[in-house]
Amino acid sequence: MSETLALQGRHIVLGLSGGVACYKAAELTRLLVKAGATVQVVMTEAATRFITPVTLQALSGRAVHTDQWDAREPNNMPHINLSRQADAVLIAPASADFIARLAQGRADELLSLLCLARPAERCALLVAPAMNREMWAHPATQRNTAQIAADGAHVLGPAAGDQACGEVGDGRMLEPAELLDELIAHFQPKLLAGRSMLVTAGPTFEAIDPVRGITNLSSGKMGFAIARAAAEAGAQVTLVAGPVQLPTPRGVHRIDVQSAQQMLDAVLPQAPRHQVFVATAAVADWRPAQAQAQKIKKDGSGQPPALAFIENPDILATVARLPTGQRPWCVGFAAESHDIVAHARQKLARKGVPLIVANNGPATFGRDDNQLVLVDAQGEHALPPGDKLTLARQLVAEIARRMAGSAE
Ligand code: C5P
Repeated sequence: MSETLALQGRHIVLGLSGGVACYKAAELTRLLVKAGATVQVVMTEAATRFITPVTLQALSGRAVHTDQWDAREPNNMPHINLSRQADAVLIAPASADFIARLAQGRADELLSLLCLARPAERCALLVAPAMNREMWAHPATQRNTAQIAADGAHVLGPAAGDQACGEVGDGRMLEPAELLDELIAHFQPKLLAGRSMLVTAGPTFEAIDPVRGITNLSSGKMGFAIARAAAEAGAQVTLVAGPVQLPTPRGVHRIDVQSAQQMLDAVLPQAPRHQVFVATAAVADWRPAQAQAQKIKKDGSGQPPALAFIENPDILATVARLPTGQRPWCVGFAAESHDIVAHARQKLARKGVPLIVANNGPATFGRDDNQLVLVDAQGEHALPPGDKLTLARQLVAEIARRMAGSAE
């Protein structure tokens, strides 16, 4: 997703406490800088045993702070100066000891001191734990982590998997790219907090026989971007995806399917549990009347096999016809090659949905950018052309505004 400057103008204090995961902080610093953020690294004494300040200074382009008595600051108050400049403080890695210090409100070294001194209402504290699985599972660590969350910290992870000590379990720090996504999401307005969204995305694959089928050129990128944008906006998101090679956005529950019928079967039980349904999937209109159990062979006659097709169920129209109380607020997509708005308006009526988003199908399939026109009973509203994630965030804002205005 082309999203190079997602943190432009943001100033991040990146705090490192002691742990093997310190090596990942170098890559994280690079990603934050690449995303447009300015990064001030602050390290505990233990962190400097795992990675040198030299590396992090080179990658952040700023002298690293390690000492609360640093006389370089004219007022000799690095804890105040550093935390007043920051838009967020991210502790990665956060050791068991550092989380304990935060829980207690300790202030005897620079990093915990600046966490305590930060203006909490405008400078969030994000904490990425990293430790051995027994340390993470220990009641003291669980108690301390619950305490810092209750005090307003956002706890990111940890992940499960291989650990530096050779054990396997919960306690790995999230990967740098995941922490970057968490930070980007943190700065998005929570327009769908407390809401839920169901999204379909990608093509469907309709089998002819075990080795062949019909499908289309949808990449799934627009639907995945919408799922991500909705999750960033605070919604609980379920994504029903056809066969695509895309990573699941963080925090999104994904259900993989192949055919239109499987997509319908996955969507129908979910629909009443969600408040919004956004159908971006390019569902195949027809499927072979009968999928052959064995590969169809050439018979030497020169004649191709006669394939009969039947129409697939219309997933969006089926959901839009659910009774009130079970029916989410429905958004359809219209991928057309010409007369885009006119076709979208016909679709609005035919499918019985309050909003259709029109785009130029052949021009956008597989690409990272798109152009969207919102068509509803009030009229047409074109969003400025842009990358799919930016458009997805704008669409989420439009959906949130319409839902706030509707009597659902
Ligand atoms: O009918 P058409 O494919 O032109 O409409 C596109 C919209 O309907 C999209 O939102 C698409 O996801 C949805 N759709 C569907 N099930 C189908 C066909 C389309 O949900 N079988």
